[in-house]
Amino acid sequence: MNRMKSVMQLSLLVIAGVLGANSYASSVVDSMLTEYQQQGAVMPDANSGREIWFSTHGDRSCSSCHSDSPLKSGSHVKTGKLIEPMALSVNPDRYQESKKIEKWFLRNCKWTLGRECSAQEKSNILSWLSSQ
Ligand code: HEC
Repeated sequence: MNRMKSVMQLSLLVIAGVLGANSYASSVVDSMLTEYQQQGAVMPDANSGREIWFSTHGDRSCSSCHSDSPLKSGSHVKTGKLIEPMALSVNPDRYQESKKIEKWFLRNCKWTLGRECSAQEKSNILSWLSSQ
């Protein structure tokens, strides 16, 4: 009986840990989405984010490095370096730091689209990625 109890306590701890990690991650995402709205974006549109993600510009797209699914690891087209999955469901370490998110949006939008992404585009992409 005691054993049963400790197993249950352990599972509760694990569940609390997982929920805790997720709510931390989504609080960063939420504050980014709010910031994009303050910069003029309207409600995020995840479908449109998905379209931007897979759209090609010459031979470049977000999926060039991040693979054909946010659930899978990618590899950098130039360096071959492993890039962990983008989906929060398989990689809870994602979207923990607004500075990191902004740094890579800037760099990757410029490389892929040849320009910066607008607040609306970033909002759409982030809402799609974080819901995967
Ligand atoms: C040339 C390769 C490459 C392309 C193309 C690329 N990325 Fe990335 N991206 C990276 C690398 C490298 C990182 C940083 C390493 C990591 O976070 O695993 C990264 C990280 C990110 C992050 C930060 C995630 C976090 O955990 O905070 C976002 C957001 C992102 N990319 C969005 C995009 C978008 C949007 C596009 C398309 C417009 C794109 N990337 C295209 C290589 C690329």
